[in-house]
Amino acid sequence: MSRWIIVSNRLPFSYDKATNGLKTSSGGLVTAIRGIKTKKEVLWIGSIPNNVPKKLVRQYRDKDNIKFSFPDLDNELYDNYYNGFCNDVLWPILHYESDSVKFSIDRWEDYKKVNQIFAKHVAKVAKKDDIIWLHDYQLFLVPKLLKEINPELKVGFFLHVPFPSSEIWKQLPVREEILEAVIHADLVGFHDFAYLRHFVSSVYNLLGIHSSLLEIKSPYNNTKLGIYPVSIDTQDFIKKASSKKTLKAIEHYGLNESNRKYILGVDRLDYSKGILYKLEAYQKFLRDNPKYVGKVQLIQIAVPSRTDVPEYIKLRHDVERLVSEINGEFSQIDYIPVKYIFNSVPVHDLMALYRACDILLVTSKRDGMNLVCLEYIAAQAPKSPGVVMLSEFAGAASTLSHATLINPMNIQDTSLKLKDSLELKQAERQRRHGIMYDYLKQYTATSWAAAFINHLENKTLQKGSRLKDIQHPKELDKVKDLFKDEKRVLLLDYDGTLTPIVNNPKDALLRPKMKSLIKKLQSDKNTEVVIITGRDSNFICKQFDGVECYLACEHGAKFYDYKKKKWRNLVSSNKKDWFPQAGQIIKEYTRRTPGSFFEKKNYAIAWHYRNSPQDFGEFQARKLVVDLESGLSHFPVSVILGKKVVEVKSIEANKGYFTQWFISRYAQDGEKIFAIGDDKTDEDMFDALDRKAVTLKVGTPENTKANHFIEKQSNVSNLLKELFL
Ligand code: UDP
Ligand code: G6P
Repeated sequence: MSRWIIVSNRLPFSYDKATNGLKTSSGGLVTAIRGIKTKKEVLWIGSIPNNVPKKLVRQYRDKDNIKFSFPDLDNELYDNYYNGFCNDVLWPILHYESDSVKFSIDRWEDYKKVNQIFAKHVAKVAKKDDIIWLHDYQLFLVPKLLKEINPELKVGFFLHVPFPSSEIWKQLPVREEILEAVIHADLVGFHDFAYLRHFVSSVYNLLGIHSSLLEIKSPYNNTKLGIYPVSIDTQDFIKKASSKKTLKAIEHYGLNESNRKYILGVDRLDYSKGILYKLEAYQKFLRDNPKYVGKVQLIQIAVPSRTDVPEYIKLRHDVERLVSEINGEFSQIDYIPVKYIFNSVPVHDLMALYRACDILLVTSKRDGMNLVCLEYIAAQAPKSPGVVMLSEFAGAASTLSHATLINPMNIQDTSLKLKDSLELKQAERQRRHGIMYDYLKQYTATSWAAAFINHLENKTLQKGSRLKDIQHPKELDKVKDLFKDEKRVLLLDYDGTLTPIVNNPKDALLRPKMKSLIKKLQSDKNTEVVIITGRDSNFICKQFDGVECYLACEHGAKFYDYKKKKWRNLVSSNKKDWFPQAGQIIKEYTRRTPGSFFEKKNYAIAWHYRNSPQDFGEFQARKLVVDLESGLSHFPVSVILGKKVVEVKSIEANKGYFTQWFISRYAQDGEKIFAIGDDKTDEDMFDALDRKAVTLKVGTPENTKANHFIEKQSNVSNLLKELFL
């Protein structure tokens, strides 16, 4: 059975001196992974802190049967990698704090070394069919390093933190190296759509690689992209929060006293969490609402984090100064306005706080997701729940639709919303909590992991569908047998199928190897090859010079019968009616969109925007489709949005019409049909064929009418050889 190999910077425990044992460490990544329920065998690879005796880890028996493994890392090297590069370079840039970045080549070199050690360790223990799931920015380079050791491994990468705007990412000296390494993975996942969008535009702006928001096709891999907001083991939190131990703790700490309201903050002591904003807003609230002094208390858990990094040392100082200031200003003999705990707290104490506090206040400046707010919702009593005040800059703001959203930098507004939240009526609190609670009961850490892994394995998409992976050995044999010694017609698309997609269409030349393969295919007396393409006849004639085969250009509008050595126009309508008008609209878009250009064919005009700024290009393309469709609505034309191209063409110039026409005139009874293509226009061809034909999409097994798929264009030539030679 295949295993899941989880890889993260650190294994999920730290050393507990008091018991000479291991205790679970804090942090969203650990909570999320720990929350997954699976029957799969799981091996977790990560480093161990240097004060943890290795023997303890080896002897550790995990309650969920997870096995652990760690690479050997030198202390000084690890320190430079973890504190130096991860915490002092990557963390600030990923959280929009580029002024705090302290880059040095030394640190970068050590980051590379540690990533290399991780990759070697993973490759050594991984078996065929294992799924490798890499976690977070500490391991950005591992996808590439792993694929270099073993290209067959299935590698997924999930980022637990934000990915910043490309304007920020650009400031990192090693920005390209990191992006290039990440896109070696088979799947890259994010919490939020904005992070994915930023990543795609960085890949485009810095590596010049065009991609959709679903997939990045690069010379290294076809990397799928996805959004998988992390979640928690909801039932576990519900159970723990209503347990006797928790209820006892609530009573013990007097958290159930009716004369006081509690505001809760639970954060690692990290500048990204905006704890200073929280304290300022609370201070303002007390100043503006003196009737609440003595009646409300802020309990702030500040979990020590990265305590060796100067920024964190300074932050601790600033936070503690402000806490003292507030306490000095408002304390009374029997009242402290801020209870500040610089420590992590035992699980049942945390549950007691989650259960009993009236407001959870999250003021992150940037936060990948923020699990604390999900945990609070799960732990609250549905009959009389509290209110979540959540920063707009936390990934969770996209999923928690009924939290009170705040801009933590707006101190005045947060302070007003604090008052509103404290005074919110029970029925409204119930309504909002109910919606989020139901969502969390459905969408758990297990759902998160399943979505990611299934996408990595292509499972969800194929579930219940007829789409088959043609490279699967059994399927390959089946298709081979179907065509063996039979008369056959091969309908082959050009761009993205016989040649890879490139930035400039003019550069998509037919490579000599592919050309000689097509000649060989055609020389078999049983085989007829038809090149079926959107390209014009001039370009195609040049590429196929010396190859004796049928050519269908401009989506079948012009057809070359190589036996008769004759070209035929298959379009009957008059293009004069619509061509000038379409040309005018397209010219206008070309003028307004930098990098775009158009191509006039006989029966079509194509507008290419692959060299335009990504977002602007996509936007203009969608607008152009609307303008062409409405401007030419009385003419027999169709408008299609393909891969980085908008094309307006005579309605008869269609690969589907052509396919039907060709089969009815040229194919013999019982002849076997094979069709391959990668783009929207090829879908018409697949649609026109009956189910007995083998239709093959090049790319991800999504949104297609084909009955088979092959993920990579680079494998097409071997496949054709395997099937037909
Ligand atoms: N946490 C903990 N003990 C504490 C305080 C917090 O285990 O005393 C956990 C908390 O339950 C949550 C995690 O630390 O699961 C913090 O995750 P979050 O996503 O909110 O922030 P991150 O630390 O990942 O930035
Ligand atoms: C965040 C990061 C994790 C990290 C955790 C705790 O959740 O996304 O990768 O493990 O913070 O930080 P630490 O530096 O203690 O591992």
